[in-house]
Amino acid sequence: MVEVRRSDITLLDVIASQEIKTSIIEVINECKNKDILNNYGLESLNKILLSGPPGVGKTWTAMAIAGELEMDLVFVRWDSLISSYLGSTGSNIRKVFETVSAKPAVLLLDEFDAAGKDRGGDGQEVGEMSRVVINILQNIDMFPPESFLVAATNHGHLLDTAIPRRFVVVNMELPGEDERRRLIEYYSKGLPVSIDLDEWLKKTDGLSGDEIRTKIHQEAKRAILKNGSEFMSVATL
Ligand SMILES: Nc1ncnc2c1ncn2[C@@H]1O[C@H](COP(=O)(O)OP(=O)(O)OP(=O)(O)O)[C@@H](O)[C@H]1O
Ligand SMILES: [Mg+2]
Repeated sequence: MVEVRRSDITLLDVIASQEIKTSIIEVINECKNKDILNNYGLESLNKILLSGPPGVGKTWTAMAIAGELEMDLVFVRWDSLISSYLGSTGSNIRKVFETVSAKPAVLLLDEFDAAGKDRGGDGQEVGEMSRVVINILQNIDMFPPESFLVAATNHGHLLDTAIPRRFVVVNMELPGEDERRRLIEYYSKGLPVSIDLDEWLKKTDGLSGDEIRTKIHQEAKRAILKNGSEFMSVATL
C-alpha cells in the first residue's frame, strides 16, 4: 500500500516564484528546528498541501522536501488502498499512517482528492467516502510531530473544507516568464541543444514545468539523432 523512496532532489531543483519558495522554506525550517520551538512551547508546522494544475511540480516538490529533510518519502498507493476500500478502509488508512509513526519520514498523500472529496456529494459512495474523510482527518490530527505530511491535489476545490485548514496551503501555479526562463535553463543544461530564449519564452507561455521539460528533451533528442556522432555546441543562454 505504500512505496518508500529516498530522494536526492532539493529545493534548488524546484523552480517556483519567490513567494512559493518562501512558504515552503518556512515550513521546512520549522520542522528542522522543532526542538528549539518546542522549548518555547511552540508547535512546529509539519503539514503542507500543494494545490495546482497538472505538471507544475507538486510531486517533485514533495520529493524536494524529503531531500531537504533527509528523510524517506513514503508514497501512498491509492489503487491498492482503494481496491479493498469497502470494509477495511479504516485499518488500511491506519496502516499507512503507522509507517511514519514507526520511523520519521515524509508521507505523501498524492492525488489527494481521490480520497478527500467533499462529504456533501451524492450517490451510493457517500457513506463510505465520508468515513474515509473522517478517518483521514483523525489520522492527520494524530500525525507524529517528527514526521512530515505532504498532500497534493489538482482539484483543491473538491477537498472537504475540513482538510485545507489543517495544512499550510501552497497554491502552485503555471510558471510565469521568469520561472519559464529558469526551467528552460535548468532542463537544457548540459544538453546539445541550441535555444533561442526569446522564442522559447513565447512558445512555452501557458505550459507547465513538465511540458517545458518534455519539449526541451524532445528538441535535444532530435538534435542528437539528426547529427549522429557530430558534436554540437552547447547552447549559451
Ligand atoms: N516547478 C518545477 N520545477 C522543476 N521541475 C518541474 C517543475 N514542475 C514540473 N517539473 C518537472 O516535471 C515533472 C513532473 O512534475 P510533477 O509530477 O511534480 O507534477 P505534478 O504537479 O505532481 O502533476 P500532477 O498533478 O499531474 O501529479 C517533474 O518530475 C519535474 O521534472
Ligand atoms: Mg503529481
